Amino acid sequence: MSGATPPFPPRHKGEIPVTELLAKASRSLLEVWGEEMFRNSGTTLEVLGQRLIIFNRPAAIEAVLVTQAESFAAKPPQLSKLLAPLMGQGLFIAEGARWRARRPLTTAAMAELADGLDAVIAAWAAQWAARPEGDTIELIGAMEQVSAEMLLRLLFGPAGDAAAAAQIMRLAHAYRAKISGAGLITLMALPDPLVRLRLGGDAKRIRAVVAPLIARARKAGSGLIAALPADAAAEEVISLFGMGHDALSGLLAATWFLLAEAPEVEAALHAELDSGAEDRPMTRAVLREALRLYPPVPLIARVAGRATQVPGMAVPQGSLAFVSPWLVHRHADHWEAPDEFRPARFLPGAPAPAPFTYLPFGLGPRGCVGEAFTLRAAEQALATLARRFRLARLPGRAPIPTAGLTLSLALRLPMRLTRRTG
Ligand code: HEM
Repeated sequence: MSGATPPFPPRHKGEIPVTELLAKASRSLLEVWGEEMFRNSGTTLEVLGQRLIIFNRPAAIEAVLVTQAESFAAKPPQLSKLLAPLMGQGLFIAEGARWRARRPLTTAAMAELADGLDAVIAAWAAQWAARPEGDTIELIGAMEQVSAEMLLRLLFGPAGDAAAAAQIMRLAHAYRAKISGAGLITLMALPDPLVRLRLGGDAKRIRAVVAPLIARARKAGSGLIAALPADAAAEEVISLFGMGHDALSGLLAATWFLLAEAPEVEAALHAELDSGAEDRPMTRAVLREALRLYPPVPLIARVAGRATQVPGMAVPQGSLAFVSPWLVHRHADHWEAPDEFRPARFLPGAPAPAPFTYLPFGLGPRGCVGEAFTLRAAEQALATLARRFRLARLPGRAPIPTAGLTLSLALRLPMRLTRRTG
């Protein structure tokens, strides 16, 4: 049950000039990795006077993200500059005392969330059931909408309806479009006030749509938002939606795409779902493998706050430190047939991945706060929808994934919807 090699962008060989590297980065952050980086133990580059270190060795990854997380506590100022107009000082970019205060509050609120995903997913199943057999579904847009609805349910409870989800999503897209691709590089070079000017309008519109939802949810005491203190609520809700939405929808879209490419895996998944078993190891393995091959957050970035030594490398103060799930998940030393879609590697009984080689949700104190929610929501959505429906790719070229801050399989991906059972 293996074999399919899903598409990935071409990899250059040998060193390339910095100008070419920057041109590639502005097209897609998945294009910057050369062939040898999928085999080596790390890379150091000087780009525009800044030292960049890409950590590939498990012991070094452990040091940067876990054991020496204090020395690598800060995210690059460029990242905060792009996200602060939208997220304020929300959890993802908060640092120091504010982060230490907010993280346990948010973690606790996530753990207490009320159920309600069933209703969102059932409504989607009903929508698909109402479509004619063989109808075309645009996968990326559909998974963005279902993810927005699930997240709004988490954040606001019943106050987060489908219409609000669609509106917030449209505005979030406008924001994302400005900070992805070429915009990412240009914006990094601009002074802060100009960046705020370019992004501030979209951020303000998103806050205006979210404000009444927050008020309603707090009054009703529903959703995660009601469990956060009032001063944190607005910032955190936008931060959580901003962090979670692209990633969750990216995971779901990648999973459907991969299933359509691998009929044997699809058949094994269907067998599990048809059995009606409550435990679904194959469903989880498919999702974990989709997270390995197409990690929605393909790059984790930090700044070395002090000079330090990590296994195999001295790190000067101020270096930009990168750990790339995209790179580590496809590294020849850590994975057999790294570019192949083989969910069996995550089935019970298979050897566990080597420590610090599988990190779709990051690791250490700043690892993803939405991991448990994501895995539950994605498993539930896939199990419910894939039991009843198949999505098949339409003829045409396979998409080539790209990445700005998050990975995107394609802008649009039409698929053919068919029913499995009456
Ligand atoms: C497939 C889905 C997801 C993936 C792959 C993912 C991945 C990640 C990764 C890699 C990080 C660490 C970033 C770093 O170390 O710089 C992170 C952090 C974070 N994620 Fe997720 N995420 C997902 C879904 C979500 C969801 C659904 C939410 C919210 C409901 C969320 C909220 C956050 C927040 C707030 C942080 C920052 C935590 C902190 O700095 O303390 N994520 N995520």
